[in-house]
Amino acid sequence: MVNMNLDLGSSLHGVKKFFKNISRPSSAVGVDIGSQSIKVVELVRKKDKLVLSNYAYAKTDESLIKIGAPGVLSDMAGKVLSKTLEVSKIKTKEVNVAVPSFSSLVTIFEIPRMPEKEINQAIRVEAPKYIPVRLSDVVYGWKIIDDTVGAKGKEGEQERKSNKKIVEPKMSDRMKVLVVAIMREISNKYEKVLGDSGISVSSLEIDSFSLARSLLNRESECALILDIGHKVTNLIVGVNKNILVNRTIDVAGDSVTSVMGKSLGVDRKRAEQLKMDKGLQGAVNNGEAILLPILGAITKEVSRTMEVLREDYNGLEIQKIILSGGSSKLIGLREFIEQESGVTTVIADPLVNFEYPSKLSADLKEQGPNLATAIGLAMLGLED
Ligand SMILES: Nc1ncnc2c1ncn2[C@@H]1O[C@H](COP(=O)(O)OP(=O)(O)OP(=O)(O)O)[C@@H](O)[C@H]1O
Ligand SMILES: [Mg+2]
Repeated sequence: MVNMNLDLGSSLHGVKKFFKNISRPSSAVGVDIGSQSIKVVELVRKKDKLVLSNYAYAKTDESLIKIGAPGVLSDMAGKVLSKTLEVSKIKTKEVNVAVPSFSSLVTIFEIPRMPEKEINQAIRVEAPKYIPVRLSDVVYGWKIIDDTVGAKGKEGEQERKSNKKIVEPKMSDRMKVLVVAIMREISNKYEKVLGDSGISVSSLEIDSFSLARSLLNRESECALILDIGHKVTNLIVGVNKNILVNRTIDVAGDSVTSVMGKSLGVDRKRAEQLKMDKGLQGAVNNGEAILLPILGAITKEVSRTMEVLREDYNGLEIQKIILSGGSSKLIGLREFIEQESGVTTVIADPLVNFEYPSKLSADLKEQGPNLATAIGLAMLGLED
């Protein structure tokens, strides 16, 4: 059993690094295992720049992530990953891996204000009220949420953005703490399945933290990442490196294909093709927009998230929605979400911070929104 450092006090890590190289690493590999595909990204540090030197995308017929299965990860994942690394000529055997948000618990609760050294103990006392399993069965970590987030409504927001103090902060006698936990069974399974294929796990973190690292690091405004994959949609609200809300729903690209197939009376293959070629325009039957219930489930979750945010953070509003994941490419989706939510909506561009070889350029641009999680994981591997 490797040594786990659980203290998130100074970092944004989900479930923290198992160990850390003493020397500054010059390259790192991030691995995002999804229900339909594996995405791998290799980042290399070259002087002051980070270069995306290589990446791989492997689509799988059989799901490598299974909701409800013991440990979540399929036994085949190690072999598929090892083959993917081999084919793409990525030589490293040490990777940074994400576990899906639905298999973990991200919760925020309040504790009385106290010195940092006492927080560990306070969390041990409070956490069982919010985490529905024994603490000994989970790997967990915590982070204090900045006091400035939503502290004074709109004035606080302005203050946070401009870095100027507009109003003297009135320290509340309570503070918000973010606690993340994953079942030991799951972290052990990832280590075992990948270890059996000769791959070692340098860090394991919850995918929302990887996404936040790659997409929100430069955001000063409160943003919502809507990561729409194959089986699940992940909603992450972040501001200034704080994750404030993380919810998942099991509606995503797979549901879109199924509904199109059934409503239009075509087989799955044809439905998938129509989805790719025409997007929302291909999803009309007798003038009726057949995807409305599915997309409605997503926009309803967005509204709910906005409400939670207003309630818990003093009227804090989402300024921007960032779409990532394979289904973010669904034609017409960005416009639909923007219209329904009333919030500026963009497709994620996690490549903006990196240089990459020109031969990868065209393909990478296409894959960009798909790679946000893997990029965030590779960035984690390069952090000091
Ligand atoms: N151009 C496109 N238009 C519409 N949908 C697309 C397009 N390209 C890919 N998709 C859909 O994206 C989904 C795959 O996305 P992604 O690779 O993010 O999923 P995953 O990470 O494997 O799954 P999950 O995160 O749900 O476990 C599939 O449902 C696929 O049909
Ligand atoms: Mg995914």
